[in-house]
Amino acid sequence: MEDRYQREINYLRVSVTDRCNLRCRYCMPSGGVPLIPRREILSMEEIARVVRAATRVGVKKVRLTGGEPLVRRGITGLVKSIAAMPEIDDLALTTNGMLLAEKAGELKEAGLNRVNVSLDTLKPGRYRYITRGGEIKAVWRGVEKALELGLNPVKLNVVVIRGFNDDEIIDLARLSVERPLHVRFIELMPFGSAAPLTGGSHISSDEVKRQIEEKMGRLQEVRKLAGSGPARYYRVPGAAGTIGFISAVSDHFCGRCNRLRLTATGALRPCLFRDREIDVKGPLRRGAGPDELAALVVRAIQDKPGGHGLNEGQAVCGKSMSRIGG
Ligand code: GTP
Ligand code: 5AD
Ligand code: SF4
Repeated sequence: MEDRYQREINYLRVSVTDRCNLRCRYCMPSGGVPLIPRREILSMEEIARVVRAATRVGVKKVRLTGGEPLVRRGITGLVKSIAAMPEIDDLALTTNGMLLAEKAGELKEAGLNRVNVSLDTLKPGRYRYITRGGEIKAVWRGVEKALELGLNPVKLNVVVIRGFNDDEIIDLARLSVERPLHVRFIELMPFGSAAPLTGGSHISSDEVKRQIEEKMGRLQEVRKLAGSGPARYYRVPGAAGTIGFISAVSDHFCGRCNRLRLTATGALRPCLFRDREIDVKGPLRRGAGPDELAALVVRAIQDKPGGHGLNEGQAVCGKSMSRIGG
């Protein structure tokens, strides 16, 4: 359905857990974030009920996020129940890839269409640094497995941080040439723990694109790629994959926002950057039926602000990214 700004809201991002098996520096403070007690987290069955209600008011695309969604037990069952909803035409997952090699087979079988994998560097030492201990080999095993199983398109999410990985932009972009990998450069968003990294280190998508075109030649714009998220896509002529840009800061895409979020604790979040949320867990646990749940989804859609207000100082977001799922 349309919101107050004539945007069609058809994409629900579902955070299935606040837990993660990594602690990326831009996402979490060093001590991690306090874990939410399990009873506060929606059960898989509760999540499926909310998703089903959302399909009644026009949601067609669902993305499972976290924390890290693959650390949550029962994730395959959830994929299966969402994939069985006839209205859903795109079911995807955003993961750090650590457990992907192990789980990709059962996820594919359960009906998952595709995956986006976070990978900010090609260097094992840097990967260990930015994730505070992650092993890049595990991520690559996951990516290979996803390609092999046809969880297409496989997208790689690269958060660009000056002084950390800006010297790898070309090497990362080259991954899209030989193989059907879709490498997306993301502007670092100034969330809590990311703030120290943004001081003077912000690199715009324009700058990244300029660097790539200098070395690799002019990029061709690509019109169609599965997914209707915020990225704009290009291709090196003749390449198997694409290069995408997510300009969350320099050129926000709020005007074409099509999404709503469901948090792991059972609230509908109309905007990534605003802490205003609508509780669904309470109503769910008091026995709300499909109509009542759908009405809450409608309320959340109508509550969407026109823009995140990040550049006008209106954004209020006290949560770490790991709690919202990006
Ligand atoms: P596709 O369905 O493949 O297009 O995925 P996506 O880009 O929507 O999802 P993904 O989880 O891979 O997110 C990629 C980046 O986009 C992350 O850094 C997210 O935080 C960011 N992102 C997703 N939705 C929004 C949004 O509504 N606003 C902003 N500012 N960033 C967003
Ligand atoms: N800015 C931009 N992207 C971020 N992500 C996490 N924190 C930030 C941030 N501060 C990305 C992750 C993951 C996606 C869900 O969000 O790298 O790919
Ligand atoms: Fe975990 Fe993703 Fe946050 Fe890294 S960015 S700590 S992988 S949720």
